[in-house]
Amino acid sequence: RRGVGSCAGAAAPPFRPVGGVWGFAVSLALIGGTGLASLPGLELRREHALDTPYGHPSTAIREGRLHGQGVLFLHRHGESGRPIPPHLVNYRANIWALRELGATRVVAANAVGAINPRMHGAGLVIPDQLIDYTWGREHSFDDGSSGALWHIDFTEPFDAPLRRQLGDAARRAEVAYTHGAVLAVAQGPRLETAAEIRRFASDGCDLVGMTSMPEAALARELKLPYASVCMVVNAAAGLGEQPLNLDTLREALSRETQRFERLVAALLQPR
Ligand code: HPA
Repeated sequence: RRGVGSCAGAAAPPFRPVGGVWGFAVSLALIGGTGLASLPGLELRREHALDTPYGHPSTAIREGRLHGQGVLFLHRHGESGRPIPPHLVNYRANIWALRELGATRVVAANAVGAINPRMHGAGLVIPDQLIDYTWGREHSFDDGSSGALWHIDFTEPFDAPLRRQLGDAARRAEVAYTHGAVLAVAQGPRLETAAEIRRFASDGCDLVGMTSMPEAALARELKLPYASVCMVVNAAAGLGEQPLNLDTLREALSRETQRFERLVAALLQPR
């Protein structure tokens, strides 16, 4: 396996941009999660089935035009029919491939449960902090071979300028949203116990999902601005209807996905 041969503060890891071949530069990459397997309105130009030093991404990455801008789209859970569970997603290959294709910022969609009742049924949430409760995932590009330590700064796990752009876009799109929240990233794939949710709440968490880590940290290692847009689809375990009702989830997912699409349209359209 090839090391990336770099550390934060030193030269960026070597990469070969191969996107933008259709005469427009690709800058924004969107990572879709549960409920967002495709991007309505995307004029598909090309699909990239890449191999990376870390293996294959979840699926071929779509390159196309959306609202007049070049974008990349990657479905984190892979092709429908055989979804990759959160703990088995190849986050390193996904982030590496997006960067290799020329992404300069990444917006990730995450379906989450609400721990903070004020965030349930109140629209999208743009988190500003997270606590990582995952374990056993390949969580760094640093394989010890680069000769340097990658102590990346992760004080602010989500890129602040990109979060502001997302907030502005949500306002312009008149989409209900909350700016700032603490996201607990649980291991899954099972949902949490009521006691685990009480612990996350006492740790200060507002939301719980399963896929933002190590995704956010890997993007930071490659110096790729990254932010998350959370779609709240249920009250977390012990706080609402249990067991979770799939029909209610589907309804919430489709409502929040529409909000996400409107936000992305505003993000891409010049003011
Ligand atoms: N917990 C963890 N991940 C989730 C949840 C939840 O309640 N809902 C959607 N993704």
